[in-house]
Amino acid sequence: MLRSLAGRVAIVTGASAGIGEATARALAGAGIHVAVCARRRERLDRLAAQIVSAGGEAAVYGVDVTDAGAVSAMVDDVASRWGRIDVLVNNAGRGLSATVEDTKPDEFRALLELNVMAVFTATRAVLPWMRRQGRGHVINVSSIVGRRGVPYRGAYSATKFALGGFSEALRVELAGTGVSVSLVYPIGTATEFHEVEARRAGPGPHGPIQTSEHVARCILRCVRRPRPEVYPFRLSWMLSLASVIAPRLVDAGLRRLLR
Ligand SMILES: NC(=O)c1ccc[n+]([C@@H]2O[C@H](COP(=O)([O-])OP(=O)(O)OC[C@H]3O[C@@H](n4cnc5c(N)ncnc54)[C@H](OP(=O)(O)O)[C@@H]3O)[C@@H](O)[C@H]2O)c1
Repeated sequence: MLRSLAGRVAIVTGASAGIGEATARALAGAGIHVAVCARRRERLDRLAAQIVSAGGEAAVYGVDVTDAGAVSAMVDDVASRWGRIDVLVNNAGRGLSATVEDTKPDEFRALLELNVMAVFTATRAVLPWMRRQGRGHVINVSSIVGRRGVPYRGAYSATKFALGGFSEALRVELAGTGVSVSLVYPIGTATEFHEVEARRAGPGPHGPIQTSEHVARCILRCVRRPRPEVYPFRLSWMLSLASVIAPRLVDAGLRRLLR
């Protein structure tokens, strides 16, 4: 358990908007040095300036996380700048709203590259540092649809299920090393996510919607007290439980909800 977070070092991917931006602010507010990473550098510059003017420390990395070489260079640079890497928040991600039959193979592959392979790459790059320190924390931002597939989100759900599988395996592989692995399962969150994704089927965001600041507070709590899974909307874990116990019932509920 990390008690004082002051002077710890975190990398947050996808920090130019939404949950990543809010998380970078929350971590910086707790005294953590944050490396903020995304493709839109000007947004990151603005965020870093705000963090610094509030008394925090931030470094900007205009990096496409699907570029493995750039991610590895970023990790090395962060480690040489601050001497350590305590937390990696793998948050960068994108959705797709389309039926499975209407999902193009290239779209699916692109989602896998960003939502799964980029997480794998960044995690592999930080682990040697964390193992050497005997302490570290990898936090992977999944989605509640990574617990139960929902209509029109087949490819996106599949990427988040893949993320869950590899994170759970890694968590056990790292037992005893001082390195924790956590999965965060947000429900619909008010961010640019739903504007950026291609939408060819299904409704827009509906049901309970949470704020990115709320998800960020949950992530900060998890940094303070690492735990395997975080459900920012507490009742949502029941969806995954219900799906195991009564999958047909959940199918019928989803059909009705998304009609
Ligand atoms: N919003 C929701 O309803 C919701 C629900 C459940 C889970 N999630 C998950 O939460 C995470 C964050 O989503 P969000 O809602 O905050 O979305 P968002 O507002 O669209 O932000 C996505 C972030 O990812 C970055 N990003 C996208 N492609 C990238 C790339 N190739 N390289 C580096 N950065 C990249 C974007 O920055 P640039 O464009 O500047 O690169 C942006 O900072 C995602 O993993 C998403 O799957 C979201």
